[in-house]
Amino acid sequence: MGIEYAHIYSDQQFSRQHERGIAELLKLSAGPGIKKIVLVDDYSPDPSSQCLDIRDFLRNLSRRNAAPDVAVFESELVPYCEAVLELIANKKLKKGLSDYYGSRLKYPCSLFVAAWYLLRLGFFGTPRFECITGSSEHLYTDKIVTILPDSYMVPEARALEIIESTGGSTLLENIEHVFFAHQEENYSDFDDFDAHEYVERNYGCKIRSEDRQIIEFVTSVLSDMGIAPDSLQRVADVGVGPNLYPAMLISSLISNGGRLELIDIGAKNLDYLEQVLNRTDAEQLRTWKIYEDHIRELGLPAGLKKLSIVSSTTMGSIYELEPNRYDAVLSFFVADSITDMLSEFVEATDSLMNSLQPDGLFVVAHMVGSHGYSAGHRTFFPAVNLTLEKIEEIYTRYGSFRIRMATCGSGEAVREGYDGMVVIVGKKFA
Ligand SMILES: C[S@@+](CC[C@H](N)C(=O)[O-])C[C@H]1O[C@@H](n2cnc3c(N)ncnc32)[C@H](O)[C@@H]1O
Repeated sequence: MGIEYAHIYSDQQFSRQHERGIAELLKLSAGPGIKKIVLVDDYSPDPSSQCLDIRDFLRNLSRRNAAPDVAVFESELVPYCEAVLELIANKKLKKGLSDYYGSRLKYPCSLFVAAWYLLRLGFFGTPRFECITGSSEHLYTDKIVTILPDSYMVPEARALEIIESTGGSTLLENIEHVFFAHQEENYSDFDDFDAHEYVERNYGCKIRSEDRQIIEFVTSVLSDMGIAPDSLQRVADVGVGPNLYPAMLISSLISNGGRLELIDIGAKNLDYLEQVLNRTDAEQLRTWKIYEDHIRELGLPAGLKKLSIVSSTTMGSIYELEPNRYDAVLSFFVADSITDMLSEFVEATDSLMNSLQPDGLFVVAHMVGSHGYSAGHRTFFPAVNLTLEKIEEIYTRYGSFRIRMATCGSGEAVREGYDGMVVIVGKKFA
């Protein structure tokens, strides 16, 4: 059996996360046939930021009784990624992975993981290759256990999907995971908000149950409100991130000559939106097409094309919006997801509602009971721990509204540590 633990990036140092992984390793009994395996990711990090001192890292593992039998650089796996990609039978999956490579000239983590597992289970025979320490012959086994922080769950699940599609499905029962809960100690900077990873995990695979409930609620309330199509002139989605479905929900209400300002503090989010709206990222466009189709099925003529015409991206802050500027504002998971302080949530919400003209439309969503979240590996962003009652109490200051709590479907909790999402559709007091 081969147990993998202490996964590390070459721009990272030994940290508490690796200690947690070692603790899990030591719990699994160390029998004679067990080989300890470490994979060092020197492929994903930017070459200019690689700072890992490998010898120091290995020394840290040895000191904790966790010296690996084999340690391998991830870049050794590139030829196997190419081979696995060729073998994938599921056309949609293959196209998604090829498009990912096409737009970034890098293979995604999930493909590496699939190649790594298939290699170790003997799918490619027992090739010899250069290792950081130990010999490649110790990699080959009939059973794999991988110990990782829970933030890796999604790429790991995607890797198993890839393996299934390569004719290696019988090998799946030989792969086991041990995930442990882990949060980074400090909050990340919003410049490190990884739009692609965030979309892949929250919006990418399918429309999640909570988002469906939100979309259906907003569609139905907007229709009850009877707002005329093409009537809104100046609209903003504040803290838009890489999420286009709120804008799509309202797109048919915006006049052809009107403007939709997509405002965010993170440059990567704005780049992402521009790529989708300029139609230069086919893979991401496909994701948002699924939302467009769903909203259209509910009777709202949502349009990505319309968004491309009326939208402009702006770097800006929810705390610094111009008063009385908009006749409608959207803001999904922002005031609650940029701070852990209630006073700052209120300040951000005040600023948002102040940017709205009297009688203006607001469509907002907040997390309930959130303890923070990630958007990209090794990121951790704050959240205010709100209740439905608190949110309701705060919004009664601003206008009349309808409110709904959306909860996740069974087995769907992608983001741990929250109770649900609240969506509010209302009109500011005249
Ligand atoms: C949890 S994400 C929500 C993204 C998106 N609205 C959604 O529905 O998924 C929070 C977003 O707020 C943005 N943000 C952080 N601080 C901000 C600020 N002061 N003003 C505006 N946006 C901010 C982040 O860059 C990120 O895109």
